Amino acid sequence: MSTTSLPPSLMATLPGDFYTDPEVFALEQKRIFESMWFCVVRAADLPKPGAFKTVQVGTESILITRARDNSIRAFYNVCRHRGARICTEESGEVKRAFQCPYHAWTYDLEGKLIAAPNLTKMPDIDRVEYGLVNVAVREWLGYVWVCLADEPPSFEDTVLGDVRTRLGDLVSLENYDVANLAVGRRIVYDVKANWKLIVENFMECYHCATIHPELTEVLPEFADGYAAQYYVGHGALFGENIQGFTVDGSEGFDRIPTITEEQDRRYYAITIKPQVFVNMVPDHVILHRMFPLAVDRTVVECDWLYLPEVVASGKDVSHSVELFHRVNQQDFEACERTQPAMSSRTYAKGGVLVPSEHHIGLFHDWVREKLGR
Ligand code: FES
Ligand SMILES: [Fe+2]
Repeated sequence: MSTTSLPPSLMATLPGDFYTDPEVFALEQKRIFESMWFCVVRAADLPKPGAFKTVQVGTESILITRARDNSIRAFYNVCRHRGARICTEESGEVKRAFQCPYHAWTYDLEGKLIAAPNLTKMPDIDRVEYGLVNVAVREWLGYVWVCLADEPPSFEDTVLGDVRTRLGDLVSLENYDVANLAVGRRIVYDVKANWKLIVENFMECYHCATIHPELTEVLPEFADGYAAQYYVGHGALFGENIQGFTVDGSEGFDRIPTITEEQDRRYYAITIKPQVFVNMVPDHVILHRMFPLAVDRTVVECDWLYLPEVVASGKDVSHSVELFHRVNQQDFEACERTQPAMSSRTYAKGGVLVPSEHHIGLFHDWVREKLGR
């Protein structure tokens, strides 16, 4: 990939076709989304046995449910008879079994085949072997993570590794007790942009002064263009007269009691490859899960997580939610403005990264390595 020689201040980005070519996206589905740990649902959204959700992971539809022993299970949403989708709804609840709507093969919550028309006349059918195909599952931060690989990579090295790389350790995140927080608000954004534009945008703050007036008011250092993710372990300090991480700098809620003095009045951000962002402030955590659905379309589910007593008390979280909701809208609008230009002939060789964005080069190296390009 020959780029004209760049001055030391600049680094090349990925070329435009990485954001537009369906073949590149198909390769990402196989080698990234279907090979790595992928965060799918909040465990609390499956409150009891039989509650289920279906999600798209790479090219596959995955069915996630809670079994009778309360453990979370994930299966390919594909009937073992002749392949019909078992569940077509995004979420729902079954009593004790999933029944295929085509010829009524029926599977219990552990995926075992328990009934089918004339099944008793076919005693040679092994009920487990012809059960739903399992997907590896982990629970972490109160979320369900799945991996479609036959041999999943180490969760410790990949997912937890990204947290350590960003924060310097794991305990800095554990202090926020994310698993025991409650969802105060969830907003789903349908973004007409490639998932990598969203990752790159999240990693840099060169754009903060231009498009995030409310955020730079709360975090004045962001006006200089250096994001919390440029440094290891750095949290951006709140402005002097800012009382809380809210849209107008007004007071937030009680701080999460297990965070340190050092973490008070600071904002931290982590990118967990390939599709999770974690934002930590003293009184809440904002977690983004991306679902890349096409080369130019990504659905982003964003949860605002608070202490359970804040949510249970019915306190008004709108000032708190509004700040990052605006940041999301501003960011996604910027990504949508960039997407159409990715196919311009003038962007065939890509663009450039300035020094405060050079760390995005590591993400590009990682993508290239995964795709073997
Ligand atoms: S395809 Fe599901 S029962 Fe036939
Ligand atoms: Fe932004």
